[in-house]
Amino acid sequence: MKVRRRLVQQTSRWFYANFSTDCNESNMSGRKFCVGGNWKMNGDQKSIADICKTLSSAPLDPNTEVVIGCPAIYLMYARNLLPCEVGLAGQNAYKVEKGAFTGEISPAMLKDIGADWVILGHSERRAIFKESDELIAEKAQHALDQGLKVIACIGETLEEREAGKTNEVVARQMCAYAQKIKDWQNVVVAYEPVWAIGTGKTATPDQAQEVHAFLRQWLSDNISKDVSASLRIQYGGSVTAANAKELAKKPDIDGFLVGGASLKPEFVEIINARQ
Ligand code: 13P
Repeated sequence: MKVRRRLVQQTSRWFYANFSTDCNESNMSGRKFCVGGNWKMNGDQKSIADICKTLSSAPLDPNTEVVIGCPAIYLMYARNLLPCEVGLAGQNAYKVEKGAFTGEISPAMLKDIGADWVILGHSERRAIFKESDELIAEKAQHALDQGLKVIACIGETLEEREAGKTNEVVARQMCAYAQKIKDWQNVVVAYEPVWAIGTGKTATPDQAQEVHAFLRQWLSDNISKDVSASLRIQYGGSVTAANAKELAKKPDIDGFLVGGASLKPEFVEIINARQ
């Protein structure tokens, strides 16, 4: 009887080691699922109060870390309304502590008002505000030095994907971060294919997993095996309650960065996608 039980245990371990690519395996990764809501330049006092109320009253999976990226002007307001276990992120921050930089905010200021994260390198910052790989990496380094956690965004355009350059582009963007970031403990990478952002055209779970697996290998080859195993990689681009569960099953997808749907009650379902 004992021998039989041991055999069953061994067989099931072997099965998981070799075949399980769904959420069992990703849960076993030890990486805490992390879902960010990026509100972008949306919301007013009324709608923000409504979203915060939804997040305060809904049962949120305690195994998921939640971070809200709020417009700078509403950060303090949102901090006071959000449940305290929900993290708060600026959507940008400059690379120095203070000075004559009209219109900018610094990581020190974000920390001062109770934000603990900042989103950097979003494709909208790259494309519309012409932020370079280098500037984004400098911002990331400074934010980490100041004690903020960083959601470091990367992702290819449709043109780059169609030219077969996806891996090359994300590797270049990661390389720029890696030249500045020395400690990856407080970093989450958000892979957001630009063609999937705000278009309703989500990457399929397999398409997303393929790039996430490439990034995992890149980290192993270029940073370290430890960082590769522990760094969380979010997927972003038209994530909704309807597609989150399937995406969340992929072994290298450790969460989401959500735009449009994070402004709606369905964000709760996305947070709970692993349940
Ligand atoms: P959407 O979820 O609206 O496509 O936006 C994704 C995004 O840019 C999150 O940072």
